[in-house]
Order: sequence, then C-alpha cells, then structure tokens
Amino acid sequence: MRMSDLIMKKRDGGVLTDEEIRWMIDGYTKGDIPDYQMSAMCMAIFFAGMDMDETYALTMAMLDSGERIDLSGIQGVKADKHSTGGVGDKTSLLLCPMVAACGVKMAKLSGRGLGHTGGTIDKLESFAGFSVEMTDEQFIRQVNQVGFAIAGQTADICPADKKLYALRDVTGTVASLPLIVSSILCKKLAVGADVIVLDVKCGSGAFMQTEEAAMGLANALVEVGRRAGKKVVAVVTDMDEPLGATVGNAIEVHEALATLRGEYRGELMELCLALGTQILRESGVAADDETARAMLEKAVESGAALERFAAFVKAQGGDSAAVYDKSLLPLAPVRKDVLADRAGYVKHIQAEDVGLVSMHLGGGRAAKGDDIDPGVGVALYKKVGDAVAAGERLGTVFARTEQAADQAAGMLLDCYEIVPEKVERAPYVKGVVK
Ligand code: URA
Repeated sequence: MRMSDLIMKKRDGGVLTDEEIRWMIDGYTKGDIPDYQMSAMCMAIFFAGMDMDETYALTMAMLDSGERIDLSGIQGVKADKHSTGGVGDKTSLLLCPMVAACGVKMAKLSGRGLGHTGGTIDKLESFAGFSVEMTDEQFIRQVNQVGFAIAGQTADICPADKKLYALRDVTGTVASLPLIVSSILCKKLAVGADVIVLDVKCGSGAFMQTEEAAMGLANALVEVGRRAGKKVVAVVTDMDEPLGATVGNAIEVHEALATLRGEYRGELMELCLALGTQILRESGVAADDETARAMLEKAVESGAALERFAAFVKAQGGDSAAVYDKSLLPLAPVRKDVLADRAGYVKHIQAEDVGLVSMHLGGGRAAKGDDIDPGVGVALYKKVGDAVAAGERLGTVFARTEQAADQAAGMLLDCYEIVPEKVERAPYVKGVVK
C-alpha cells in the first residue's frame, strides 16, 4: 500500500477500507508515514468526509494504537462523561459526586487546560495537596471506595490520537466531524466505561457553531459508540456564553461547591441534572428520566453529593476542609468590578474571550507546561437574557496586581454585548440523542 494512493483516493471522494485505515494509522503512529502525508490526508478527510464505516474503522484503529485501561476490578456499572470543551465548564466537579451518591461509579481521566479552555485537573489542584498521580490499582480502589476518581492520563492510551490531534491543530483540520468523532471516542473506549455520556457544545464558544452541526456530531458519536458496544448518549447544550457564573480555577471550584450546597440554581445544575439523568437511566439504576432526576436532586439536597466530593478530595491527598470553608481556597486578593457602560439586556457574552481574560490574568496556559495561578479568574453576575442598568456590576475580576486587574476588567467589558431590546434566552439543553 502507498500513502500517496490513499490520499488521492480520499481526495477524489473514495471510501477507504478498514484495512487501508488500519495500515495508515499504524504507519503514522510508528513514524513510517510522515506528517506531511498525514496532513494531506486530514485535509482530504476534512473536505471529502468519511462515512460511518470509515469513521468506525478510524476510531477502532486509533484505539488499538495504544493501551486500554482495565476497569474490571470496579464493582457495578461504570460511567464516563466527556464534554467537547467549553469555557467555565466545571461540570465534572458536580456530576461525578452526584452520580456516585446515586450508586453509579465514575472512573474519569482528565486533562489540563490549554489556551482559553480550563482543565478539570487544574481546577482540582486549587485544593492544597491534591494529586491526580495514581497507579491503576489506587484508581480502581478509590472508585470502589468513594464512588469516583479523577486521574491524569498515565497509561499510553491512543498515541495515534496524540500525534494526530497535534497535527490537526496546526493544519486547520480540527473541525472535521469524522476526525472529532474518532478522536473523542478512541480515548473514551480505551478507558472502558459501560456507559458514556457526551456533552456536545453548540454555539460561538464551541467547535460546532450551529445546532444542526452539533446534532450531526452528536448522532455520529452515538452511532459509532454503539457499534463499539457501549451505551452512549449525547446531550447537545448551549455554549453561546461561558457556563455558569465563574471562569478560572479556584473560583470555579468555589462555584461548583456553592451549587452542590444548593446556593445557586443556574444552568450549571441544569446541565448536571440533564447529564446525570442519562447516566442513571442508561446504567439501569433508574427506570426512567423522572426517577433519575429525583434521585440526583435528592443527592444534592441531602448533602450526600457534597460529602462524596469531600471524600474524593481527601482520598486524592487534598485539603478537604476547603470543601466546607471557602476561605481556604486560594482566591487572588485584587478585585475589580466591571460596570455596564449602558442599560439594556445581555445578548451575548463571547465565551472564548472570557477564557482569554482568565488566561491573561495567569489562570490558563499559552503553551503546554506553563505554570498557572489557581487564584485568578472572573465572576459573571449577568448572563444572556438578563436586564442591566447603566453602571450596574456585570462581573468582577480576581487578579494579583492592580495593573492586571485594570487590563482584565477592560477586556471583560468588551466580551459583553448589551442591546436595548429584550433578549429571550434559548433553552440550555438543545437536544438529547440516544
Ligand atoms: N476533543 C478531542 O479530544 N478531539 C477532538 O478532535 C475534538 C475535541
């Protein structure tokens, strides 16, 4: 087989066979196929697409490029959740303890943030001493004892995806449906949960900007996941503004804890209930959506989810006292309010730019390996649809210096679009594909 022939076949709209796809992924992972040929293939796929058989074959070939995690030591049903990425997305911090408190185990591998999106691990490291380094045995023991664990990726899973994703990132080929589907699913399949719930973001802050494109991605993810023998559900949700009321690290943990305590009830809890409902029903612990939702609500109201979260922080070496005492979370001391420069209604908050405000304050990484400051970030008091008076607070920036605070405050104001006419907020959950 020759890579140049496969590139031309795909360029001309041909369908690659399972054997061709396996040969290509194997050769690329080993370094036999150079980046320039794989770049051309990615661009050909970007324009010509792939059918479901090809997408499935690509997913399985990428899965087989590396190790799989053996979760057979975990008792009961194991669930996993993945989000296609968003600003202010702290969902795992709430969803894992809520679901665990209802009797379904969550075994999650997470990553660090890069650019405008934050990573779950960075947020959790706001707890002094918290660690995501653990052996497979420790991971499994903790999931059995506490109900969930969140670890960094240690095993060499899906090396093909690592190489390919880095290549796509610099060749304008990230936003290709078959490449996204295979990239997400190969990693989820390598972890090996029985139930996989996917949060597919839709809007200006997401890969998929329209509802139609997001539903297309959701359908493809569910179909390929099912073919691989998993129970997969995709929930399409809004990303036309940051998720929830905060963007940063410790400040997002603070919001997650306040939401688990029942102090806030916004779209963050709505999203966790929507995702959690799918997990409990697909896992078989709830007969229907209504029962699942009631179980999750009870886990929050009773304090059981918060207790699980504290047990999880302690099990991973973190200071669990900070779960109950927010003064122990490292919030930056210089605070500057951002005031509305006109009256009206919030039409849009540019999610990506809010992520960049947090990054400029030091809360995110420009390059892999950069240190981050857990204490900086932003709080947003006004969200899409809210009425605003001139001079009213839109948000607050948390910074280390006055100069950084002034600059970030100006940037945050620019993220807001305020219009004179009333704005109807679209439903947060746009659809469920199962
Ligand atoms: N997340 C991934 O892991 N891969 C993609 O291609 C897109 C989002």
